[in-house]
Amino acid sequence: MVPSFLLLTQAQQPYRSIFHSRKAPLMNPQRLIQKTVGRGEQNFVSLPKSRLTITVMLDRVKEIYQEIEQFDARSKEELEHFRIRYVGRKGVIAELFEGLKQVPPADRRAVGQELNELKELAQQRLKAYTTALEDQDDEASDAPDLSLPVVPNAYGGAHPLNVVRQQIIRIFSRMGFSVSDGPEIESDWYNFGALNFPDNHPARDMQDTFFIARNPDVLLRTHTSNVQIRLMEHQKPPLRSIMPGRVYRNEAISARAHCLFHQVEGLYVDTNVSFRDLKDTLYHFVKEMFGQDVRIRFRPSFFPFTEPSAEIDISCLICKGEGCNVCKQSGWVEIAGSGMVDPNVLANCGIDPETYTGFAFGMGIERITMLKYQIRDLRLFTENDVRFLKQFQGA
Ligand code: PHE
Repeated sequence: MVPSFLLLTQAQQPYRSIFHSRKAPLMNPQRLIQKTVGRGEQNFVSLPKSRLTITVMLDRVKEIYQEIEQFDARSKEELEHFRIRYVGRKGVIAELFEGLKQVPPADRRAVGQELNELKELAQQRLKAYTTALEDQDDEASDAPDLSLPVVPNAYGGAHPLNVVRQQIIRIFSRMGFSVSDGPEIESDWYNFGALNFPDNHPARDMQDTFFIARNPDVLLRTHTSNVQIRLMEHQKPPLRSIMPGRVYRNEAISARAHCLFHQVEGLYVDTNVSFRDLKDTLYHFVKEMFGQDVRIRFRPSFFPFTEPSAEIDISCLICKGEGCNVCKQSGWVEIAGSGMVDPNVLANCGIDPETYTGFAFGMGIERITMLKYQIRDLRLFTENDVRFLKQFQGA
């Protein structure tokens, strides 16, 4: 809003102050504040005591108008100075109203009008600054209090199955095994056919899985042995690799079985690999994993893709051989299947069985983890109960 005194017409010009040229330069509002600090609510303007002309009054109004325009109250303190100087009962505008009495009656109305507008401007500004500072306060109170003590972070940890998987990888990599990976959604050929499972052979019943109804050739792999085939197709001996991964079976979920679990496959193919190498490698692994006191036995078994085949049992670490639900009261727990790679499997992958021999094994990570950490129920691994998981922090 532009006050009307700035719009003075030519006809009004003769009123211009004769003191105009002697007028003090406009004071910087910040300096005004400094000058008034500590002086309390005293008068700031010295109007001549004699009769006031309209010109003196209007010049003064203009000066104060410009001061107000340039004023910027950024703190409560500055705002208070603004209030005292322009809106207060003893402020400059109030004083001008006092001075109005001394203006010749004919001019009073015109000056009064200017003064009213100036007063209104000061009040509006005071209100605007007050709300702006209040908003600032609100924002400040929403800001975080940096002096508060920290809320302790709940750190996560590795899942026990991951901890053990890493330990397995470490032990075998020290023996020169690389780590390979393969698909979980697999074709019948890689999961069964190439591994010497004839169609409709009863060995398939041991590993019932989830087939996709539209195309029975696609299934969720029942073991990590599919990666053996993929590896031998792409690399030629010497081959020495382990293959950790997730596998699936159509099993009822219980403390000992699940439809989803983890295995680590191992494969070593070279000239002159013997059953003795298999035994040595797995003996070493078991001692590294469970300590020197654990006992191991190789139990003759059957797998279509190994010949001869053996299952590997270790003494039950949960009941120390006395019998519990994990070892089915036998004192022994099976941790892996193993054997010499069947010549048919080598031939299926284009490797000459006359030149090369190999051994393979497949172990269950859940089973090994249960034995290592005395866990009696397989379901705990997939329940995501933090009370369980927390116990492996730092493992
Ligand atoms: N794939 C077999 C299973 O899941 C384990 C195994 C792997 C046996 C390699 C022998 C050789 O039961």
